[in-house]
Amino acid sequence: MAILKIARMGHPVLRRAADPVPDPTAPEIKRLVADMLETMRDAPGTGLAAPQVHVPLRVVVFEVAETRAQREQTQPVPVTVLVNPVIEPLGDDGTLGWEGCLSVPGLAGMVPRYDRIRYRATTPDGEAIDRIAEGFHARVVQHECDHLDGVLYPQRMTDLSLLVFTEELRHGAPEPRGAKRGVEATTKEALS
Ligand code: NI
Repeated sequence: MAILKIARMGHPVLRRAADPVPDPTAPEIKRLVADMLETMRDAPGTGLAAPQVHVPLRVVVFEVAETRAQREQTQPVPVTVLVNPVIEPLGDDGTLGWEGCLSVPGLAGMVPRYDRIRYRATTPDGEAIDRIAEGFHARVVQHECDHLDGVLYPQRMTDLSLLVFTEELRHGAPEPRGAKRGVEATTKEALS
């Protein structure tokens, strides 16, 4: 196991679409996942996508731990590994919420995400995952899977006045201008 170096915004590996994994059960994928989990926990982050550790493959890990789930007023999600994930939005409803990213250190932004999604993937054990997720869980999966398409959260933002240094949030979080959607008072910590 090893703690891997995290790519930051501007590195080409974060801009390109990652490649599908031909064999999710290959030993090198298990090794990659072990290192990604160690890196995610060290950071600490809620999730990590392989391109963030300079590996352009469609692999994502995340976990909504008990303590984090309490802060987000949501349910915990056990450690989940997604190989070749596919997301399908369920409905058009969306919510603005705070996100951070280990590849965009020091910043946080209010990002619109679908409230409810279905996601499917394969695990490194060859099992199929097929889940419906809502709220923070759905937000984390959308954020992580965007990394696989070369998209960072600022590219999803609709109001860049809500992109801030986390240290400045001590002055109070900015309010969205004329927000019609509900606003979560959510995380100012790194998602991934
Ligand atoms: Ni991220």
